[in-house]
This record gives sequence, structure tokens and C-alpha cells, in this order.
Amino acid sequence: MNATASSTIRRTRQLGAELRVAKVVRETDDTVSLCFDVPRELADEFAYKAGQFITIRVPAGDTGYARSYSLSSAPGIDDLLTITIKRAAGGRASGWLVENAQIGMTFRVLPPSGVFTVSDDARDLLLIAAGSGVTPVFSILKSALQSGSGRVTVVTSHRTPADAIFLTELSELQAAHPGRLTVISRYTATDGRLTAEQLALLTEGINWQDAFICGPEKFMSAARIALRADPSRRVHLEEFTSLEGDPFELEEVVTDSATAMPAQVHLDGQTHDIDWPPESTLVDVLLSRGVRVPYSCREGDCGSCISKLTQGRVEMACTDALEEEDIEDGYILACQARPLGGPLRVDF
Ligand SMILES: Cc1cc2nc3c(=O)[nH]c(=O)nc-3n(C[C@H](O)[C@H](O)[C@H](O)COP(=O)(O)OP(=O)(O)OC[C@H]3O[C@@H](n4cnc5c(N)ncnc54)[C@H](O)[C@@H]3O)c2cc1C
Ligand code: FES
Repeated sequence: MNATASSTIRRTRQLGAELRVAKVVRETDDTVSLCFDVPRELADEFAYKAGQFITIRVPAGDTGYARSYSLSSAPGIDDLLTITIKRAAGGRASGWLVENAQIGMTFRVLPPSGVFTVSDDARDLLLIAAGSGVTPVFSILKSALQSGSGRVTVVTSHRTPADAIFLTELSELQAAHPGRLTVISRYTATDGRLTAEQLALLTEGINWQDAFICGPEKFMSAARIALRADPSRRVHLEEFTSLEGDPFELEEVVTDSATAMPAQVHLDGQTHDIDWPPESTLVDVLLSRGVRVPYSCREGDCGSCISKLTQGRVEMACTDALEEEDIEDGYILACQARPLGGPLRVDF
């Protein structure tokens, strides 16, 4: 973009904050947990819900990679903000972290984000995870046992017991909550991969109202098929993929009011009246103004920035995180939305 365009880039700013690794825990041969100190002045910005993730810049290769990792810690239970990384075969960032991460290192980190969270902690939960997918499930489990009142069933799948992340912790939790928690563990080395039919049999007769599924793509589709649709039950999925771009870099925009469209944004009980330039996304405009808007990937993938357009028109380059029905209902991804017709109104 150049200075003659309808709005000009003022400067590039780095988003997020530098966090220090206070502890490293080797969970299995190929999995490591990194526990970050969050300084008091960042406590609000880094407050989180069980099941959310952070995005960190991994200094591997020539330019580094931005990668998201679910929090395995739970708010109000664990002091340190903790992520758990399993080496992906041939993976560029995970391999680097598992081999090189050490106490005292600092990483650029974007604040917690994500919608793989429990909205009603009185409901019965069914948590189904394979491999590193156990990370957000472990956080949700700890939080549910401490603050919720429903029953929780956890189904995990790993290659062998030696690969089972949080095996000891899950047994301890089961012993501490015999009336509320049931843990079912399966191992692909001895039991084979769990199919939809096997998962249906395993979960038959279990009372649940909210299911949370996380693991490799094929495992998640098998679990999705196994849990038959029912209007009284909700199924939540968390897909682990690698980011393509650099969500840390923000090109701040200065608005030229001749082309910008008036927009009203409702967020966290506040109303922001903004001028929205046609070539800028709503997340970038709000971040440039210092508004704490929910976001993470800024590439239409994670769904953190989902909001509702109640007036005006927008276009979106990518809608991966939305279902067809969401779009019909007026939901948008604020990190992808550029204005087409105003005035606009967006509710977060
Ligand atoms: C919301 C969210 C939460 C997540 N939480 C966790 C978590 O808690 N723990 C965790 O371990 N991971 C988690 N992930 C996944 C994580 O972000 C990374 O995707 C993962 O660590 C792999 O990154 P990588 O750089 O090591 O692998 P990449 O280098 O990105 O490669 C990923 C895979 O693709 C293959 N590959 C790479 N390049 C190519 C190519 N050109 N052609 C074919 N194959 C290729 C690699 O061999 C590897 O198996 C999460 C992801 C998301 C989006
Ligand atoms: S920030 Fe990830 S979808 Fe918008």
C-alpha cells in the first residue's frame, strides 16, 4: 500500500507480549510442557478460560513460525500459564520446541483465545481426545471438577501407555473424584485405532450434554459420527492445524475519512464509533485503535473473532471458521471482514 491510497499504513507494530519460561516439564519422550510466568501488569490481558489456546512465535528456521498451542493449565488452579507440545513427525516448530525450549527463554505470545470452552458448568461433559488433543481436554477437566457440578467422562486414545500424556494426573483425578469422573483409556498399539463403531459402543449409556472432541482429523470425524446428533446435546470440536502467516505483525492504519465507512462496534459492553477503511479488516482497525478485540490467527481459521453483522455489508476473503448457517445468520469473521456498504454495525 502507498501513501496515495485511501488510507495509509503508519507503521508496523508487534502484537502480543514477551513471556518467560519458568518451568519445563518433559511429559513423554516426544512431549514437553512449557510453563510461562505472566507478570502482574499482563494478568488481565492473559486471563483465560479452560480450553483456550495461545499463539507463540517459535524461533526455528530462518524466519520463525507462529504456532497455536492449547493451554493445559486451568485458571484459578495452576499458577503458571502452561502449554503442552507434542512433536509432529517432520514438524518444524514442535520439533524445535521439544528439543530446545529451556527455563529462562522468552517467547512472543498472543493473548489466550478460542471458543472450545464450557459455557454451562452444571452440564454433564464427555471429553474425547487422542494424542496432543488431550491438552485442552485436561484443562477443561480440571476446571469442571473444581467449579462445575456435572459428571465428566474422559475417553483418551494414545499409542501406548508410555505415550499417554497426563496419564498419572488423570488417574489421580479419578481417584480424587470417584463419583464424578470416569476415565476410559485405549491404546492403538494393542487395541487398534478407535473407529466410529467402537467409540459409539464405548460412549453408549454415558450421560452427557456437552461433548468436547480433539485429536487428529480422522479420529475427530470418527468421534463425531459416534455421537449421534440430538438437539439437547452440543458437540464442540478443536482442530489442530499450523498457521501460515504472521499474526504478530500489525500494519496500523490511518483512516482517510473520504472513503472510510462509518461503523458502530459493540464489544465488552462498550460502543466504539469508527471509520472503517474499505481495504482494512475490522480486527486490524480495532487493534490499531488500541481496542482489545478477540483475535488470534488473523487468517480466518480459529474463529476467535466471530461477531455478528447487524447492519451494512462486508466481504470476507476466508470463512473457514464459519458454517454455512452461521453466514446466513449474519455471523462474520472480523479478521476477514472488509466493508462493502455502510453504515455498519457489528456486535461481539
Ligand atoms: C487452536 C490450536 C491448538 C493447538 N494445540 C496444540 C497442543 O496443545 N499441542 C500440540 O502439540 N499441538 C497443538 N496445535 C498444533 C500446533 O499449532 C502445530 O500445528 C503443531 O505443533 C505442528 O507444527 P510444526 O511446525 O511442528 O509442524 P509443521 O511443520 O507445520 O508440519 C505439520 C505436519 O505437516 C507435515 N508437513 C509439513 N510441511 C509439509 C509439506 N510441505 N507437505 C506435506 N506435509 C508437510 C509435517 O511433517 C507435520 O507432520 C494446536 C493448533 C491449533 C490451531
Ligand atoms: S482471528 Fe482467527 S478467525 Fe479471525
